[in-house]
Amino acid sequence: MLVDGKSWRTIWPGEDGKSVEIIDQTRLPFELVTVRLEQLEDAARAITEMLVRGAPLIGATAAYGFWLGIRDCADDVRMQAAAKQLIACRPTAVNLRWAVDRMQAVLAPLAPEQRAQAARAEADRIAEEDVATNAAIGRHGLALIRAVWERKRETVQILTHCNAGWLATVDWGTALAPVYAAQEAGIPLHVFVDETRPRNQGASLTAWELGKAGIPHHLLADNAGGHLMQHGKIDLCIVGSDRTTASGDVCNKIGTYLKALAAKANGVPFYVALPGSTVDWTLSDGVAQIPIEERSADEVLTIQGQAEDGRVLRLRLAPETTPACNPAFDVTPADLVTGIITERGVCPASRAGLAARFPEQARP
Ligand code: MRU
Repeated sequence: MLVDGKSWRTIWPGEDGKSVEIIDQTRLPFELVTVRLEQLEDAARAITEMLVRGAPLIGATAAYGFWLGIRDCADDVRMQAAAKQLIACRPTAVNLRWAVDRMQAVLAPLAPEQRAQAARAEADRIAEEDVATNAAIGRHGLALIRAVWERKRETVQILTHCNAGWLATVDWGTALAPVYAAQEAGIPLHVFVDETRPRNQGASLTAWELGKAGIPHHLLADNAGGHLMQHGKIDLCIVGSDRTTASGDVCNKIGTYLKALAAKANGVPFYVALPGSTVDWTLSDGVAQIPIEERSADEVLTIQGQAEDGRVLRLRLAPETTPACNPAFDVTPADLVTGIITERGVCPASRAGLAARFPEQARP
């Protein structure tokens, strides 16, 4: 993506051939800062502390982290330890396990002395494939946006939740890839961006991305989306996913489920954009089976922002004695989802729909 005339990705190999560079997303929207990852522990910390976040980018970071972890010693013991450490970083986004499994599957048959080079090549492949996959999601999602435009010939109004833009992936994004494709196609559109408490990925990341891309948007308090849908102000919702079951139940950032309920009640199409690597083919009941990350209460009890003098501060919102709970994701049952936008086309949120797009991965 272009930011102020410079082309960026969220992660890329360092010029020294030994490290990986990332954008530190905890510093956005106030500063665009990069960080160098030199060892497995750096990559694990970047995932855990959310310098990188978003399911596809977590997967790519895990792949590079695996490479960093076995670069100097690649015996089976080291490989297993690296896999274990990375998979433990965050529990919900399945792309993490997917990337680690893929690295292990490619490297395990090789002699230890061949593994470091092969790991770097595989991590590069995962990153490049992510870019191509998201571009394809963009092309398929574009058709949905174009259909709205052709029907009403007025600015297409899209609501999105959290950040499933290029910052959540290596490039292009999932939910925002169709938005970028529509912009390129010259379709007039406007995006309502849920702020996405408690970490405010909508306010700090999606709003920043869209602003840099010159896409018209308004930030919304999380509670406002239902009202807008009731008043016919939203043509379609497009969100991302961190893990989707083989039956089409969609796990995404906390608050997604409420938007899907409001969309269903108001006849607003609700689409989920995701790569095949986000489907967990081992699961069939999202509510019962997807592990939901419980994050620190501090994320709910405090808020980060910039003071007038430019300092970035964290402020308390509630009494000092107030406890808080912080489930980071929720599950939207498949029957609330109009369709899933994948790199292989749009399909119904159902076992049959997903299996038809990914027959080689579907289980009987
Ligand atoms: O906790 P995060 O920021 O890693 O959550 C990821 C998200 O931004 C979303 O839930 C997103 O919609 C899916 S990832 C493309």
